[in-house]
Amino acid sequence: MPSFMSDQDVVARALSHIENKTTDRSDETWREPVENYQNADRFEKELALLRTLPIPYCPSASLTKSGDYIAREAAKTPLIVVRGRDGNVRAFKNACRHRGTELVAGKGCAGAFVCPYHGWSYGLDGALLGIPHEDGFPDFDKLANGLAEVTAIEHNGMIFVIQQDPAADRTAALDMLDAVPDVLKPDQIIFAETETLVEANWKLHLESFLEGYHIKPAHKTTFFPFGYDNVNVIEFSGPHARVTFPFRRIEALKDVAPEEYKVSDKLTFVNHLFPNVVLAELSHHLSLGVIEPVSINQTKVTTYHLTRSTDSAGENAALEAARRDLAFVNETGQKEDIAMVTGIQKSLHSGANAVFTFGAFEPAIIHFHKHMSRRLTDFGSS
Ligand code: FES
Ligand SMILES: [Fe+2]
Repeated sequence: MPSFMSDQDVVARALSHIENKTTDRSDETWREPVENYQNADRFEKELALLRTLPIPYCPSASLTKSGDYIAREAAKTPLIVVRGRDGNVRAFKNACRHRGTELVAGKGCAGAFVCPYHGWSYGLDGALLGIPHEDGFPDFDKLANGLAEVTAIEHNGMIFVIQQDPAADRTAALDMLDAVPDVLKPDQIIFAETETLVEANWKLHLESFLEGYHIKPAHKTTFFPFGYDNVNVIEFSGPHARVTFPFRRIEALKDVAPEEYKVSDKLTFVNHLFPNVVLAELSHHLSLGVIEPVSINQTKVTTYHLTRSTDSAGENAALEAARRDLAFVNETGQKEDIAMVTGIQKSLHSGANAVFTFGAFEPAIIHFHKHMSRRLTDFGSS
């Protein structure tokens, strides 16, 4: 179970920080070599590590019916994730067993996957069903040549994929899954999906979500008027983290009994699901963003935007509020963050910095780098 505080405790802690002009701090600072954002070997090792971890691929709500599938790369492996006729979700490498052709692209609903090259067909369970002119393959073992399957686990409203069985450390991988917060629910509607190519290393983009030290200078006229300068509550759950960004209207809760708190429009929770996923709980919607490394200096972010559970205001009103929320975040703060991040990417090669120093106000980033460093070392690299 995740070890995050109750809403009441988070609010109490945020109000105390606001009153005392304090914030959650790290006891230590962290010096991350700039080389770690630029080195091709390091990048390959990070991808290899990602393939051994349970990583959210999509919300359960994006695959509601049998045959619903999403094809996308994860840690540079092309995958198909599909809900089968038995209701279970499975993940396969998106490669035909004849000569490796990609079977499907994007998302859809299918009864079977038919290879566009020579027409070999596969069931939703990956079984090789048919080979046109089969007599051309006299000794071919159809049973042994279903699609190459990888582990898919449905948990807390998300589908996680583990590409390579972490045989040596299966318990740690499953502990990591247990530590994920239970935020997504089946009745939430995916009302938008966005895909953004960011011209920067994936870790630079991730870091932009994990601290509130930049809210005033970088979001001066967008987020800052609604929030605070450098006020966060920061918690950890295994390798994951939750960074709480209070809004100014949280101060209204000083006059409300804790058991009456409704916090969704009083703060944003940014859950960092280690290592490359951000699950944000915003005023009127939730977003699950998968930060996919494309190359050492390019990142594709696929984000699923979900309504919060529909409430008494009715479905349409909830959807409208969610869309307004999304437009505000994407058109303002998100663009400002991407401008910062791509600016950092441009300077990496300049030699201006041999290390980046993460200070006391950036504990969730320090936690991330510590876990990356430790896991890469355990993985046989450094
Ligand atoms: S590559 Fe798929 S049928 Fe030939
Ligand atoms: Fe930001």
